[in-house]
Amino acid sequence: MAMVRFSRLKVIPEGGARVKVIDGVPIMVARYNGELRAYIAVCPHKGYVMCERSINGGKLVCPGHGEVFDFSTGEPSRGKAKEPLPRLHLEVREEERGSEVWVELPGDEHREWIRRVSKPIH
Ligand code: FES
Repeated sequence: MAMVRFSRLKVIPEGGARVKVIDGVPIMVARYNGELRAYIAVCPHKGYVMCERSINGGKLVCPGHGEVFDFSTGEPSRGKAKEPLPRLHLEVREEERGSEVWVELPGDEHREWIRRVSKPIH
């Protein structure tokens, strides 16, 4: 599996998240209770991009229409989205300048998933 450096660990605060576009795909890395998760940062309801303020008390909240996703699994809980946020493999690597977060490089299947869920907004 191809991996790509995301950021230093220390810039992802407890209870917070960072979002970066890597190879054209928005990716969120969030931290809660010391755990880290990486997801494709696109809501499966209508394709809004999740932002760094989308994490709230262990829930990931879409800024579009308020769907709430479980931090640990990415599963939706309010019924607007019918599928979870796609989870990406994540590793913390100890490097010379400190702990670095690496994530799975998004592939064509992720770009196809984004195209499918990004419906026109009416
Ligand atoms: S786009 Fe996320 S809840 Fe509608």
